[in-house]
Parts: sequence; C-alpha cells; structure tokens
Amino acid sequence: MSTVPPTRNLALDLMRATEAAALAAARFVGLGNKEEGDRAAVEAMRLLLNAVPFRGRVVIGEGEKDKAPMLFNGEEVGAGGVEVDLAVDPVEGTRLLALGRPGAISVIAAAPRGTLFNPGPGFYAAKLVVPPEAKEAAHLSLSPRENLKEIARALGKPVRELTVFVLDKPRHQALIEEIRLAGARITLQTDGDVAGALAAVLPGTGVDVLMGTGGTPEGVIAAVAVRALGGGMQMRLDPQSEEERWNLVHAGYALDKIYDLEELCASDDTHFAATGITDGPFLKGVRYEGGLARTESLLLRGATRTLRRVEAWHRMEKLRAISAVPY
Ligand code: FBP
Repeated sequence: MSTVPPTRNLALDLMRATEAAALAAARFVGLGNKEEGDRAAVEAMRLLLNAVPFRGRVVIGEGEKDKAPMLFNGEEVGAGGVEVDLAVDPVEGTRLLALGRPGAISVIAAAPRGTLFNPGPGFYAAKLVVPPEAKEAAHLSLSPRENLKEIARALGKPVRELTVFVLDKPRHQALIEEIRLAGARITLQTDGDVAGALAAVLPGTGVDVLMGTGGTPEGVIAAVAVRALGGGMQMRLDPQSEEERWNLVHAGYALDKIYDLEELCASDDTHFAATGITDGPFLKGVRYEGGLARTESLLLRGATRTLRRVEAWHRMEKLRAISAVPY
C-alpha cells in the first residue's frame, strides 16, 4: 500500500470565507431585502477567498439570477497555489435570509480544474438525492413511486416512514401528489435545495430523500458534498422556459440525459464548506451574545471523506477593527 504526505485541507480555508459571508449576511436576516444581504455576503466571501493559498477559478458563481457583480463565472480568486475550480453560493436561500426563515446557508465547493459539470445556459434541473445505503437502489429514470419503494427497501423501513424534501413550487404539484399517493411524508420548503440535498445524505436530519427540480448551479454544489459523503445523486436538465430550452439545445445539451454523480463531480479530491446563516436541519444560524457571534460550519474533504463540524465564536469588536468586512 502506498501512502502520500498529508496535503492541505482547503475546506478549513474555505470555511473562513463561508463564515465571513454568513456573518455579513446575518445582519440582514428578516430585513426583507434579498439583494443587500447577498451583496454583503458576496463581498465578504470574495475578500476571504483572496487570502486562500490557491488559484481558484469560479465556475459556478453568482449568475444573472442574483444580479451580483462579483464572484461571477470565470473570475479568478486566491493568493496563488494549487489550481482549483470553485462553486460558490454566498447565500443559498436569499429569500430565506430576507424573510428570516430557516435553512439559509453560505457554501463553497472546490474541485480540481475541469471536474465539475458545466450547466451552460441551464438554470433548472430535476434532482434525486439519497443516502449512501440507497445509492444503488434509486434512479431518476424510475417513477417517484418506484424510487420510494426501492429507497425504503434499501433503508430497511416502510415507505410511510420516509421523508422527502421537495421545494414548494407550482411545478411540483404532480410530484407531490405522487409522493403522497405512494404514502411517504413530505417536507415542503420554499427554498434551499443544497441544504435539502445535504439533509438527505447526512444521518439524523429527519430527511431521507430529495426529489424535484431546483437550480442547476445548486445541483453542482450539492453534488460535491453528496459525493464526499458517499451518497447518491442524479440530475437531468429541466428547463423552465422556452428560452432556457432553446439555449440548452443550441448549446448541444441533451435534455433527456441523466447525469450521474460522477459526471456532476468527477473527482474525489474535493473540499466543501458550509456555514449556517439561519437555523437549519444540520447547521444552526448565526447567533449573537455579549459582543460575540457564534457560527456553525460543516466541512468535508472528498479524498478522505472526513466530516468536520466547527463551532466558532467571533469577537465582533476585534473583527471590525481589523477587517474590511462590515460585520
Ligand atoms: P437563491 O439563494 O439563489 O435565491 O436560490 C434559492 C433556491 O431555492 C435554490 O435552493 C433552488 O435550487 C432554487 O432557488 C430554485 O429556484 P426557484 O425559486 O426559481 O424555483
């Protein structure tokens, strides 16, 4: 058996950037303004990413949907070093942040150059995410009913004890009806399917499966975490407008292709960090107490499948004195 010398776990560095973004965004919880909170998080994340000893290229960034001028696709960040591709979402769940609802997180995934799926002009994709034990049992080509039966069998419990995360969107009416007919329970959430995907794969969250259509960039970010956790995931592009469909077809994407996890994230050499902004199923949001701010983060390293949970207490006065981030 050959061994290699220990290398840097970039997730630890990435965490400083998700923490900074979460702390910056946390000032905007419930203020009703999606864009201001997102902008503060983007600026904070970018500042900290530029201190990381890597050459990071943003491949999944703040797109047109977020109207953000920074951390856009193609932007280079970092202080120099190993070359990686980055998928970032400074605020995943901008509406959750604006309304002070649970489930908003700040998230970054890093992978070797060229190993993350490029969704091109695809904004939306159908997703199926399951825990490691059900990895071989589920497939996006099966109906939701068939999948639930197979997943239940793999998890060793009846379908009625499965809980499925579904985004609460009109496009999911038929899916929701089918899941209900199959007898499984549903947790309908307005936003945040990266957190939904993580909840499906992490034990003890009360969520067993993620089904339905959400953002394609969010799908790629989730894929990095799902792979690092040994879970199962598949995705199929699911354009929600004629324009999106046209753009995809003309860019050469096949709309009936089911992308496996290994096509969404083609490497195990990945690093992932997420920090809670508002309380969620596996991360608490930012809390303030006596001049301190508390953050909770989840870190993953694909090469070793190490999962870390980090609780940090930030002294706001000190941070404000030395940092350009308006904490
Ligand atoms: P934002 O943080 O960019 O607002 O995304 C939130 C989100 O709910 C994602 O988690 C999800 O993938 C996507 O939006 C779904 O998009 P839509 O709300 O347009 O259906």
